[in-house]
Amino acid sequence: MALLTVRDLKMAYDGRTVLNGIDLDLEEGELKVVMGPSGCGKSTLLRCLNRLVTPTSGQIIFRGEDVMRPDTDVRALRQRIGFVFQNFALYRHLSALENVTLGLRKLRGMATAAANERAMHELGRMNLAEHAQKYPSQLSGGQKQRVAIARALAMDPAVLFFDEPTSALDPVMSREIINVINQLRRDKVSMLCVTHDLALARAVQGRVLFLDQGQILAEGEASELFGDHADPRIRAFFN
Ligand SMILES: Nc1ncnc2c1ncn2[C@@H]1O[C@H](COP(=O)(O)OP(=O)(O)O)[C@@H](O)[C@H]1O
Ligand SMILES: [Mg+2]
Repeated sequence: MALLTVRDLKMAYDGRTVLNGIDLDLEEGELKVVMGPSGCGKSTLLRCLNRLVTPTSGQIIFRGEDVMRPDTDVRALRQRIGFVFQNFALYRHLSALENVTLGLRKLRGMATAAANERAMHELGRMNLAEHAQKYPSQLSGGQKQRVAIARALAMDPAVLFFDEPTSALDPVMSREIINVINQLRRDKVSMLCVTHDLALARAVQGRVLFLDQGQILAEGEASELFGDHADPRIRAFFN
């Protein structure tokens, strides 16, 4: 069964169409990247999928469940989706460890010892065990983003959504995040990543969808999509 099936998804803000019929399938354990220029609707797509905004029309099936139904439990839906943002969204007054345990304790009601153990497991997976007691201001951008990923993973999400995970990072730190995403891909974590970062879209091991003017213009491996035979509209984006 597909993890996520999107059909003919449309979204308009105040009558202005942003998404104009998106079809998207994400299998369990799969990574897909939605790439496109700024303002093309990438964040809007993710917000529709976790029902932060209500699409104008279309179908969204999440693990067999129609999440466009008015009686959908959006809180439960959002708890199954781990979100990683461009700007990390860490609490500055909390250590890396406390950033990861917060949701486990407050949303899951986990006892501190169990939450710490779970958080240390995820921080270890992100190669951050020795940084667990540091505050965000003591961490590099790449480390902060890895804390944010550890925090999302600790909640056992069905899928991770990344919204421009490398946009605030220099190329070296971006590479750290690319490596992490590829590692999670090998671990069969389901992921949907939206970005305008070509380096990211090229280097992660997943299929790439090119979004422009509210529609998916092309879908394929990065090598075919951005190669010499790319769609002229895609080439135009890079020139
Ligand atoms: N809450 C909103 N109200 C009105 N327009 C919006 C809102 N959010 C985004 N938009 C517009 O929708 C378009 C797509 O935005 P967005 O999804 O943020 O694009 P991207 O993430 O690809 O940069 C942009 O033109 C943006 O100005
Ligand atoms: Mg965006």
